[in-house]
Amino acid sequence: MIALAGVQVTAYSPDAAGGADRIVRLLGPVSLALGEHRIAIVGANGSGKSTLARLLNGLVLPSSGTVQVDGLDTARDGAAVRRRVGFMFTDPDAQLVMPTPVEDVALSLRRLPLDAAARDAAARAALARFGLADRAEVPVHSLSGGQRQLLALASVLATEPQILVCDEPTTLLDLRWRRIVDELLAGLDQQVVVVTHDLDAALQADRVLVVDDGAVAFDGDPVPAVQFYRDLMTAAHP
Ligand SMILES: Nc1ncnc2c1ncn2[C@@H]1O[C@H](COP(=O)(O)OP(=O)(O)OP(=O)(O)O)[C@@H](O)[C@H]1O
Ligand SMILES: [Mg+2]
Repeated sequence: MIALAGVQVTAYSPDAAGGADRIVRLLGPVSLALGEHRIAIVGANGSGKSTLARLLNGLVLPSSGTVQVDGLDTARDGAAVRRRVGFMFTDPDAQLVMPTPVEDVALSLRRLPLDAAARDAAARAALARFGLADRAEVPVHSLSGGQRQLLALASVLATEPQILVCDEPTTLLDLRWRRIVDELLAGLDQQVVVVTHDLDAALQADRVLVVDDGAVAFDGDPVPAVQFYRDLMTAAHP
């Protein structure tokens, strides 16, 4: 269970004209208990979705309030939280750091008590799960965008996190790869929180949060949530 209590995120905004710096509110106050198996977060560009998603594994820390995952505080127990909560970025290149797929997955397994041979075998098994067995040793940059996104998913899931947070995992993908990634995410045992602009994908969730101007403007069932978001966008740009 993820619990946000009175969470606000603020940032300094330097005054270009030489006046006093201001503190601007990026998000909150937000209080949420997130226990559903599939949760989608939708909202306009700049509304605060990534800020909210990054709070869930401690990539962003609250300026006030607390975020807890199974009772672990993201500010105090960040490393333990990140072992529990995997995070997948929109652009897989943001998280793929090794030259080949098998090395990348092996890197994410480095904290498990495995010797080199066992780690290599576990990395290859993780790649096979996502149809990348025959790409284990090719240069990562030679993979297609969709294959790189699958590799990022394989790397994140290799450590068996209990929760997966994905920030627009299919935005850069064509329709075919979007479907593949959506189906893989849908089939996971883990709790998945996904930020998406794909409203068809949001409609498959158990619960949808609509973020608007740093606040959760709607929180509930997918059909009314998506309708709320459509109405919000129509009102903003008639
Ligand atoms: N570290 C920061 N310092 C200052 N402003 C920030 C910081 N991080 C985010 N922001 C601002 O907070 C707002 C929300 O950003 P966020 O990335 O959460 O939006 P988003 O909903 O994910 O947008 P998009 O759909 O474009 O990805 C934006 O106006 C952004 O410029
Ligand atoms: Mg974002």
